[in-house]
Amino acid sequence: MSRFSCLVWLEEVSSTQDFLKEREDLNCVVCAKRQTLGRGRYGRSWHSDEGGLYLSFPLQEELKDEQTLPLVVALSVCQMLEDYGFLTSIKWVNDVYVMGKKICGVLVEKLKNRSIVGIGINVNQRNFPQDLPATSMFLVSGKEYSVACVLFFLLDKIEVNLDLLKEEGFRAFREDIKKRLLFLDQEVILHTEPPVVGILKDISEEGYLMLLTAQGEKKVVSGDITLRGS
Ligand code: ATP
Ligand code: BTN
Repeated sequence: MSRFSCLVWLEEVSSTQDFLKEREDLNCVVCAKRQTLGRGRYGRSWHSDEGGLYLSFPLQEELKDEQTLPLVVALSVCQMLEDYGFLTSIKWVNDVYVMGKKICGVLVEKLKNRSIVGIGINVNQRNFPQDLPATSMFLVSGKEYSVACVLFFLLDKIEVNLDLLKEEGFRAFREDIKKRLLFLDQEVILHTEPPVVGILKDISEEGYLMLLTAQGEKKVVSGDITLRGS
């Protein structure tokens, strides 16, 4: 049976993540037309005007290499967008970029024994706040899309990829993710305290970033990276 056999479609919600967190027994995909308090990692806000796709779903099953879930979900978004004709990149560890701008963010939060996976995709938005380097499917192609179709095509990709992750682990995705990796072979800054500078060389078998720094190879488990000099 499909993992996604039940769908809740809301006009407005604070955050689809919180909607699911507050309903421990709900085992459905939750979508909203808009969110009033959409969020990303570290409590940063996710701009959630009408026109985008905002969804969350719970996952209770055992997966191999569970820490790679954000990457595998981001890859699923890339595959869906590529079927529509977009060229995509993955910004480690949870963002999808098109034409140098962010089009999607993935957020995975753990609550007791289940993970809540949240995805925001910019579909038909025509503008964003000036300081937000974001883009949408509409802004790239000049066409409007059915948000419901985007959702169903995406769930299809996620379904297949989660089965593969469960059975084979991250090694089944490593190459597909590496070839879409933003900043590969470029000098990046890892924003830790103190910051680390290095060339992004690879993605490890566990989904971690491999940086070549002045002190040698460094495996990066978490954090934000940006291009040096940007
Ligand atoms: P970043 O996008 O800053 O590189 P990130 O993947 O770590 O980093 P989060 O920390 O989860 O992102 O925070 C979400 C960030 O996404 C916000 O700080 C904001 O810059 C950006 N953002 C918010 N809303 C949108 C949107 N609708 N489309 C694209 N980007 C957005
Ligand atoms: C990121 O950019 O790092 C993650 C953004 C995640 C946004 C989605 S929209 C649906 C779900 N509900 C939320 O409040 N956040 C996620």
